[in-house]
Amino acid sequence: MSGAKLTVTTRRPARTDALVVFGTRGLPRAIAEEARRRLVDEAKLAVVPSLGKLRDAERVVVVRPPRRDDALDWRRTGGAVARALAGEPVRRAAVIAPERLPEGPLRAFVLGLGQGSYRFDRYRTKPGPKPVTLAVVCPGRESATAARAALPVARAIERTRDWINTPAEDLGPSEFEREARRVGRESGLAVRVLDHARCRKLGMGALTAVGRASDDPPRLVIVEHRGDRRTKTFTALAGKGICFDTGGLDLKSAAGMELMKKDMGGAATVLAAVAAAAELKLPLNVRGYLALAENAVAGNAIRPGDVLTALDGTTIEVLNTDAEGRLVLADAVALAVREGAARIIDAATLTGAALIALGRTRVPMMSTDRRLGAALQAAAEATGEKVWPMPTDEEYRRQIRSEVADIRNVGKGREAGVIAAGLFIAHFAGKLPWAHLDISPASWSDGAHDLGPRGATGVMVSTLVELLRRLA
Ligand code: BES
Ligand code: MN
Ligand code: ZN
Repeated sequence: MSGAKLTVTTRRPARTDALVVFGTRGLPRAIAEEARRRLVDEAKLAVVPSLGKLRDAERVVVVRPPRRDDALDWRRTGGAVARALAGEPVRRAAVIAPERLPEGPLRAFVLGLGQGSYRFDRYRTKPGPKPVTLAVVCPGRESATAARAALPVARAIERTRDWINTPAEDLGPSEFEREARRVGRESGLAVRVLDHARCRKLGMGALTAVGRASDDPPRLVIVEHRGDRRTKTFTALAGKGICFDTGGLDLKSAAGMELMKKDMGGAATVLAAVAAAAELKLPLNVRGYLALAENAVAGNAIRPGDVLTALDGTTIEVLNTDAEGRLVLADAVALAVREGAARIIDAATLTGAALIALGRTRVPMMSTDRRLGAALQAAAEATGEKVWPMPTDEEYRRQIRSEVADIRNVGKGREAGVIAAGLFIAHFAGKLPWAHLDISPASWSDGAHDLGPRGATGVMVSTLVELLRRLA
């Protein structure tokens, strides 16, 4: 449940166990030579004993500096530093940030420090070692301000990972609502909850149908940061919040269901990003629409062939109950349109097809608006994340044309599954600028990596916050 304790200063703390530096300049000769001996081939860093030659650290972590403008490499380097420190008996470390590092890479580095030290030990009866305290020492006030702006984002990534890693037993729609209220209080968000009855009364026939077979009823939670009181204009973020996805009557296999606690990753990402926007006091208005439901199996579950009516009146032929994410998002996006959003970006663990298309490296991105798509891609690159644009050609819409209703929830056959799913959601955004992130593969890592252990990654949190920063 916790990563390192991160702080940013301009003065080197008096007592530390380890010192993290970039390059060997200024180090006592014996330490520099030992570091150079170890920094061979692919090694990103070397942990060298200070041999009594430094009064404030027993160990020096000498890091090979990445290229100045490569945010992703800085992020991974931050992760590697944090992971290296976690393997040493270190309680407090000073990380000397390099001089003249641009803001983006500096922030990416701080994010990496936070991510690399992440652990999820909520369910361990024997807690692991105490988290390290990492003081990032900046060369001046300006760079310290830039680095400090990464702290709320680091926290947002940590929150997202915690929520995704938490089993569905402890994070159903009602617990997720409670988390949204708690974070709303902590970060200063306005929180509205449309409960099951209210959603039904409003006409959200898709969200309510998907969630009705669960004992923990579906709901829509709306969190808002009002950073610009001069205008009512706002950006909408919508998140798929399926707290558990059994597939419904189109039941998943055991292997396919194993990790389905993570199917609320989009909603977690959105909630955390809106909270970070508030903590950063970004001067814009943003609303997060969290479509929360459990896709369960019971006598009242929706069936293949059923026709649902979404909030905007669109009729939907359900041909596979396992394509539920797009259904709950249909109502969330339609509500954002009705409430007057200027643009909509949704995030969802939407398709298995995304893994086939792009693997876990790049997040498939779709957009019906060139500028919004480009802004999202640029925001991702700036924070060291990767998206890739998928096409939105008219021809693909044929896939979701229904003979019975206005639209169907699965494509015909298995072709272009990511695109068919995205275009289904795009339908509900209508003419508004819309963008979509299918985070299903990248939001989860099957093994330990530079940026943390197996489990949730927190992908796209920093990209969304950066996009909001650029829109502000
Ligand atoms: N939540 C799944 C997508 C998913 C699969 C996320 C694996 C993470 C890992 C989604 O609701 C789903 O079941 N999608 C179906 C759609 C299909 C029925 C058209 C899929 O991808 O198989
Ligand atoms: Mn599903
Ligand atoms: Zn799902």
